[in-house]
Amino acid sequence: MNTLFPFGFPFPTAFYLGFYILTLVIHVIFMNYVLAGAGYLAVVSVFTGGRTVQRQNTPTALVLRDWLPFAISAAITAGVAPLLFIQILYKENFYTANLLLSHRWMAIVPVLIVGFYLSYLLKSKTIERWPSILRVLVGVGVFACFLFTAYSWTENHLLSTEDPGTWSDFYVSPSFIYQHPQLLPRMLLWSVGAIPTMVTLVAWQLRYKTKSDRVDSLSSENRRLSLLALAGIVLSLACGGFYYSAMDSSMDRIMTSSLALLYLIIAVLGLMVQSFSWTVVLLRQRLDFRWLTITTIGLVMTILGMSVVREAIRLSTIDIEALYQQHEAATRVGGLFVFLAFFIVNAALIIWCFVLVRRNAQSLSR
Ligand code: HEM
Repeated sequence: MNTLFPFGFPFPTAFYLGFYILTLVIHVIFMNYVLAGAGYLAVVSVFTGGRTVQRQNTPTALVLRDWLPFAISAAITAGVAPLLFIQILYKENFYTANLLLSHRWMAIVPVLIVGFYLSYLLKSKTIERWPSILRVLVGVGVFACFLFTAYSWTENHLLSTEDPGTWSDFYVSPSFIYQHPQLLPRMLLWSVGAIPTMVTLVAWQLRYKTKSDRVDSLSSENRRLSLLALAGIVLSLACGGFYYSAMDSSMDRIMTSSLALLYLIIAVLGLMVQSFSWTVVLLRQRLDFRWLTITTIGLVMTILGMSVVREAIRLSTIDIEALYQQHEAATRVGGLFVFLAFFIVNAALIIWCFVLVRRNAQSLSR
């Protein structure tokens, strides 16, 4: 634990940790789009701004409504890979938390299905004819479903990293809901921390759309997006402080250990890069390719850095050395050929779907 992540671990453990982080980062990017995007749509469905402002029809709201169902499926699919790695890595700690939360944990599945279909309803033409109260209910309902899912993952993560003494107390208590002082600040941090990712992805989408649709100016939207991203960064810092105050003081030592310190610095530098580049976008009023690329690099630095720091904290609560042998045994299990064969078949099918959609979209626009 005194060497930079993941180099101080035996190869099999380092391999699974590395791929866990890599795949988790992909999940977090899509999940952030879903969480903050659904939150944005919920807010504009409540505070519509009336007929003059029409916040529900801004380019950002339109793009989000259009792409939310896709982003949900991407977030869910991208959740599978870290889910597989985490089971190999942490065994008992992961399974016990799931078993203890039981039905409460399984509630994620129906809630995700409801959220997914509501997001389609939100983008349909039918809902435009509905009374405003129903539109508000659908907008808020979509957000509530994904907030619940995020809350469940956070609850599960905290329960799984607590010492086994807590597990037995929780087991004998009649409660399905795990309470922990870090739950609220951690949830708040995930929720507001999702905003800069969502804004960056929407900015790329608008930039692409602006080019292909030949819309000349989106300057008011650039302003809205850069202010939202900057607000997301400031709120993340505030919620980070709140979370830090709820953490055990021994966590300082973990975060500044040789294992995690470089990643903490990368995460903070990433935040600084994002703040600077969004300020430039705000002043220039243009979704400039160069500055958006710099923002994206800063964003990936922050997500990657924070993911490793998060893992370093978990590693400090679990006896990972006791699991080295099981990791080693896992690398000797076969199946690479079957995996690669299905990977190629599925990748080809997905690319084919994209080509078909693109071809049909082009023929429809002619
Ligand atoms: C779109 C709905 C989803 C949202 C909003 C969401 C949100 C989250 C959040 C907030 C975390 C971090 C928890 C924490 O560190 O406190 C997380 C972690 C995770 N999520 Fe998701 N998630 C979603 C769907 C899924 C699905 C369907 C899967 C699995 C197929 C999944 C797999 C994971 C895994 C493996 C982790 C890491 C858990 C850990 O390290 O303890 N997620 N998710």
